[in-house]
Amino acid sequence: MRDGQASFTSRMVMFFRALAAHDPTIGIFNDSLAEQLLNARGQRIVRRPRTYRFMARLFRRRPRLKGAFASLLLRARFAEDELARAMETEGVRQYVILGAGWDTFAWRRPELMARLRVFELDYPATQAAKCDRLTERGFTTPANLVFVPIDFTTQSLSTRLQESGFDPALPTFVNWMGVTYYLPLPVVEGVFRELRALCAGGVAVAFDYMDAQVRELIARQPKTLLRRLRRRIGLRIWRRIGEPFHTLLDASQLPDWLRTLGYELRKNLTRETKRDYLSPEEMGSYVPDGWMNIALAHSLPREA
Ligand SMILES: C[S@@+](CC[C@H](N)C(=O)[O-])C[C@H]1O[C@@H](n2cnc3c(N)ncnc32)[C@H](O)[C@@H]1O
Repeated sequence: MRDGQASFTSRMVMFFRALAAHDPTIGIFNDSLAEQLLNARGQRIVRRPRTYRFMARLFRRRPRLKGAFASLLLRARFAEDELARAMETEGVRQYVILGAGWDTFAWRRPELMARLRVFELDYPATQAAKCDRLTERGFTTPANLVFVPIDFTTQSLSTRLQESGFDPALPTFVNWMGVTYYLPLPVVEGVFRELRALCAGGVAVAFDYMDAQVRELIARQPKTLLRRLRRRIGLRIWRRIGEPFHTLLDASQLPDWLRTLGYELRKNLTRETKRDYLSPEEMGSYVPDGWMNIALAHSLPREA
């Protein structure tokens, strides 16, 4: 993250969710509130019919983009489905959203919210921008929602949670979608370790990660002029945005890596298996693809 600057990628995610909510053919995830949080320009764009004609043309020409868009929706769906399951089967009553961005769970899912204490953690500038917009659009903060500003690279997660009324004894579910790749590996590992050490009642972490296999794929591709140009433009855009990728994880090593951090891998949706998470009816023509894998890990019991 650039010093003091709100995250651009989190705004993009909100925009994509608002687009998806307008398209009745997309059954993966419906964020009915995202549009209300967009700025006026974003709202104009998502309300224009020609936006969807453009999108349809783009997705016909670049099916990989369509798959990546579907994947972005799937990670949100996965986190909330697994949370609901954990509430039923594991008695989860505490929900922590790390790098929450413009997540609207607290207002969109009152039936789950009523049974949870929720903590939204995010980079201070991103969270401040969101809170300002929430106030401007008339959203009030539920009594059981706590906003916790944090920089994962410089602050202790467990200290910030404890200072904010987090109860370590309650079984906890963590949504850590869209963040791990923006952090250095030691920070990612530190977050996993801190969560396990803090949560005496056990913790499940739903997260996504960039599959390291993508490096080999890129290396194998013939280096055409067009590809080089695209890559150079892409890198320049990411640099401008100020949210470069730091960490890629090897899907085949994930169980061992998690075990060293005190976790057991329960689910791992890779490029090949993502499409099996939903029924064909729910997926429609939006089949998730791309190199962002989606996983669920449970903390292993700590020694007495
Ligand atoms: C792509 S957005 C993901 C938003 C949301 N979780 C989702 O699934 O779409 C990345 C989020 O990570 C947060 N983030 C990135 N680096 C961070 C850091 N060092 N400390 C705290 N939050 C950070 C950003 O502020 C942003 O909200």
